[in-house]
This record gives sequence, structure tokens and C-alpha cells, in this order.
Amino acid sequence: MHLVELSLNNFRNFKRLDLPLTPNITILVGKNAQGKTNILESIVYTCTGRSHRTSLDREVIRFGEDFAYIRAIVEKSIGNNKVEIGLSKSKSKMVNINGTSVKRLGELMGHINGVVFSPDDLSLIKGAPSERRKFLDMEISQIRPNYFYALQKYNRVLSQRNNLLKDIQKRPSMKKGLGVWSEQLSDAGAQIIWERNRFLRKLRIVSAKVHKTLTFGNEKLDIIYRPSIEQKGDIEETKKHFLEVLDSTEAMDIERGITQRGCHRDDMLFSIDNIDTRTYGSQGQQRTVVLSLKLAEIEIMKNMTGEMPILLLDDVFSELDEYRKKMLLDSIGDVQAIITTTNIDDVSALDEKSYLVYRVESGNVWRQG
Ligand SMILES: Nc1ncnc2c1ncn2[C@@H]1O[C@H](COP(=O)(O)OP(=O)(O)OP(=O)(O)O)[C@@H](O)[C@H]1O
Ligand SMILES: [Mg+2]
Repeated sequence: MHLVELSLNNFRNFKRLDLPLTPNITILVGKNAQGKTNILESIVYTCTGRSHRTSLDREVIRFGEDFAYIRAIVEKSIGNNKVEIGLSKSKSKMVNINGTSVKRLGELMGHINGVVFSPDDLSLIKGAPSERRKFLDMEISQIRPNYFYALQKYNRVLSQRNNLLKDIQKRPSMKKGLGVWSEQLSDAGAQIIWERNRFLRKLRIVSAKVHKTLTFGNEKLDIIYRPSIEQKGDIEETKKHFLEVLDSTEAMDIERGITQRGCHRDDMLFSIDNIDTRTYGSQGQQRTVVLSLKLAEIEIMKNMTGEMPILLLDDVFSELDEYRKKMLLDSIGDVQAIITTTNIDDVSALDEKSYLVYRVESGNVWRQG
């Protein structure tokens, strides 16, 4: 798939932008703080309905304005799609697909698929478990809308259960209402555990293969899912087990006013030759693992959806050595890529490919060369 055109209205520092894109490579070049990443961020919105940088929609609305608008036209093997997103300071998010407003954000998933590479990706290895869960959620949601629905339900129920736990501290008689939330949490939770397992099984195989190539066969990458609550024989059994765990921690949950076990505590571990990369990996190894994961994602998305995702490369070339740069470029192949850089020389390796260059300056964009 590829984006044909992106239009913005009052998104971040863009008052108005109409950007035609090529099916090949588009380079956005400009000094720091001019709006390059903002453009990629707006494309992420069209993929997932949210930003990869902030969880607050209001942050991306242009200062002094009340409403932001993003429109993308995407061409796929099965035809064109128009995706429109409206963000308002006072109203809820509006999503339109081919002119029809959709009620549930999950309906947006799968219309436009993107894989983002950014310098912040290292936090996938070095950061808190929440960073790794964010990665899982963003990737799986794009290919499995049901995962997204389960996740939304899980988060809603979790916050309700946590509120009730705090209320029970003050009024113990309210404890009888807890069972309903625990039941619903287990139901959504079991689905999430199964989907995470399913995705990670694929990611484990594909990323190990990519990593082997990236390290000339020297390193063996492995991914180990560390669920807070284990998967059991089937979804029903997993749900039962989830509920048992919640029952066993109930007294402590009430004491602390928070649900201590569940998908919101899942983690995963990346190991190279059986050694944890987070603790023992060198900076270069960690970067390579991230690259392996991202390149694997492209392949998985393609396999699961039948379409190549769009690559959004945010200032990543300056940090890669020549070999890794080449691997990344090779993976671009005939995929659409939108690349930001402060220095056009960093992407000189692209010379053999056809690309379009735009200069970005204070929220204005114009074509160069
Ligand atoms: N809601 C907003 N309204 C207006 N301007 C905003 C808003 N949010 C961010 N900005 C502006 O956007 C600019 C940052 O844009 P962006 O992150 O895209 O920069 P960049 O070109 O990617 O820079 P770098 O090369 O440093 O990564 C800053 O000047 C910031 O003030
Ligand atoms: Mg940037």
C-alpha cells in the first residue's frame, strides 16, 4: 500500500498542508524543530488513530486552535481508501473512512498500516515494561482489530476495578461488586494474552532470522514473553486461570487499591545468545535488536495483511553504520518510505533509488529537486 496524498489542518505547527507523496521514497529534510516528525506523527494517526509520541490528542492541535484535521488517501491492491481524522479540544475523536463516519476506532485498524523507525525505539529495549507493551499494542492492533477491542475493554474495566478497590478500602461492603469487574477483566485479559502469544511466536521466528543476517550469523536473538498471568490450554482455561489469580491476590489488591496482576504488567525479554540484552547488551547490540524487530514487523504485516506497510523512518540513518544502513535500504525495496533527516548527506546511500525531496521549515513544506 502507499499514501498518495496527506493533508493537514491545524496539526501541530502546520496551519495547512497538502503533500503529494510518491509510491517510492519521500525525503523530508529540514533543521531541528521544523515539523518533520510532526508529519510522520500525523501519518501514524491515520494508521492507529493515535500518536506514537503522546497519549493526549489535544497536544497535537495547533496552539490557539480548537480543532485539528488529518486526511490521507491510500492506494492498495484492492483500491483506494480515504481516511480522515478530526481531533477536537472539546469533542471526541472523529474518524471517517471513505466518507462514512465510524463509531468505533477499531474500524480504522488495517486501512493504513505503518511501521515507524525512530531514535526513541531504543527504549523498547532499555525502557520500562510499558514501552514494550506499547510496541505490542500498536503492532497487534494494526493487524488484529479484535485485539484492539479487547485492549480497550481491558483498560476500561481495569480502571473501574481499581476505582472500586479504592472505594472498598473506605466501605468494605462494596466488595460484593468486585466479582463483575474481575470476570470482565479475565475475559478481555485472556484474549489479549492469546493474541500477544500468537504475535510474539511469529516475531520470535522472523526477528531471529533477520538478526542472524544483520550480525553475519554471529548472534542468536530470542524473544521471551513474560506474561503476568500465564496462558493455559485454551482461551476459556486461560480466563479461568486469570480469575483464580485475581481471587488469590484480592486481599492485597484491596489493601493497595490497585490490580496487581494482569496484562497491564506483562513484559518481554530480548536475549542474545541467552543473555539479556537489556542488562548486558552493548549500545550497538541493542540498536541492532531494534532494527531486527522493525524489519521483522514489515514481513509479518505483509504476511498477515497481504499488503506492504508504509515505512516511516524518523532520522534513523545518522545512527546506523554502513552495513545496517544498507540492510534497511534493501528492505525498503519497492515499499513506500517517508524519511526525515536534518542532513541530506545521511541518505546519500539512497542515490540509486528514485525519491522526492521536500524541505520543511516552520510548518511550511516545499518541493526541492
Ligand atoms: N500543538 C502544537 N502547535 C504548534 N506547534 C507545535 C505544536 N506541537 C509542537 N509544535 C512545534 O513543532 C515543532 C517540532 O516539530 P517536530 O518535532 O516535527 O520537529 P522536527 O523537524 O522533527 O525536528 P528534529 O529534527 O529536532 O527532530 C516545534 O517547533 C514545536 O514548537
Ligand atoms: Mg524530529
